[in-house]
Amino acid sequence: MTTDAAAFKLNFTLAGIGRVLRAIATNQVAGWFPGWYVRITGQTGRGSEPETPAQVAAYFRTCFDDYRARLAADGDIVTCLAGKTVLEYGPGDMPGVALLLLAHGAAQVICVDRFPMLHLSARNAAVLAELLAGLDDAARARVRACLRDPDDPAQGFRPERLRYQVQASGLSELSDAVDLIISRAVLEHVNDLPASFADMYRALRPGGRMLHQVDLRSHGLHRQHPLDFLVWPVWLWNLMFSNKGTPNRWRVDRYRALVAQSGFVDIQVEATHRLESARVEAIRAHLAAPFRTLPAEDLAWLGCWLAGRKPSGATV
Ligand SMILES: C[S@@+](CC[C@H](N)C(=O)[O-])C[C@H]1O[C@@H](n2cnc3c(N)ncnc32)[C@H](O)[C@@H]1O
Repeated sequence: MTTDAAAFKLNFTLAGIGRVLRAIATNQVAGWFPGWYVRITGQTGRGSEPETPAQVAAYFRTCFDDYRARLAADGDIVTCLAGKTVLEYGPGDMPGVALLLLAHGAAQVICVDRFPMLHLSARNAAVLAELLAGLDDAARARVRACLRDPDDPAQGFRPERLRYQVQASGLSELSDAVDLIISRAVLEHVNDLPASFADMYRALRPGGRMLHQVDLRSHGLHRQHPLDFLVWPVWLWNLMFSNKGTPNRWRVDRYRALVAQSGFVDIQVEATHRLESARVEAIRAHLAAPFRTLPAEDLAWLGCWLAGRKPSGATV
């Protein structure tokens, strides 16, 4: 038996029971009181490492630059966003990417989340101020025009320019209303992926595009092997985590299939991280049923960019 497999077996035969019972109990609490659960667990959407406002601002700039590189091949993001309505799924605890989209010409940004994450605390307002300070004069003027008080980001945004909506389903429920949909580190948390892709297709205007970065890693829920979180049977995983926004564990095959089934065209799926095939094969026999039989290449993907377009002639 390989080291990976032996260590994994020990973990899942002995150490799991307390963890399972705790996870099931807290999942019930999260289901009844989602807002409270998000608050007491201190979720920001960016993990639990302490961060300075400058570091958080740098993270949002990286997110925006990644979108820019994929959306505007010629680098002219202002022309690309001019007059556009953008829908962001799962912004986290502050609208950092939304601010940068508005700074670069978007007409409106709508953020939708399953959990009430947004919090314009003094700390988060300091991040927004930091983002503002890093902009050139034209971009800063665009953002100031979107703020309730141009001198105080803590007062929030004018809702006709930046709207934040929380829906228990996580769905926008928009129809033929937006030109671009983006998300980062969100789709792997979505509890009903077919519903979310159907929502995106409906929300987009014909010809509209979507662009997502998906993190298929364990988010700290593995023990000895990066894929050992795929061992838990689907029913048990749902019992432990369905209400918490914990990764849904779906692999890239599922994303590819759902995007195509939802009607998108020009689909592009590109790996961001991969596991070596020897490590995939070391754990495969222990994986739960939906994962065990996947092609090695699909199991190896630990993250991806996913893009698609609603056909120009599409009716809603
Ligand atoms: C890991 S955080 C990422 C936050 C942000 N995009 C970032 O990069 O910092 C995941 C986000 O997705 C949200 N989320 C979870 N399930 C969702 C769903 N079904 N629909 C929309 N958003 C969801 C979470 O509440 C959270 O805001």
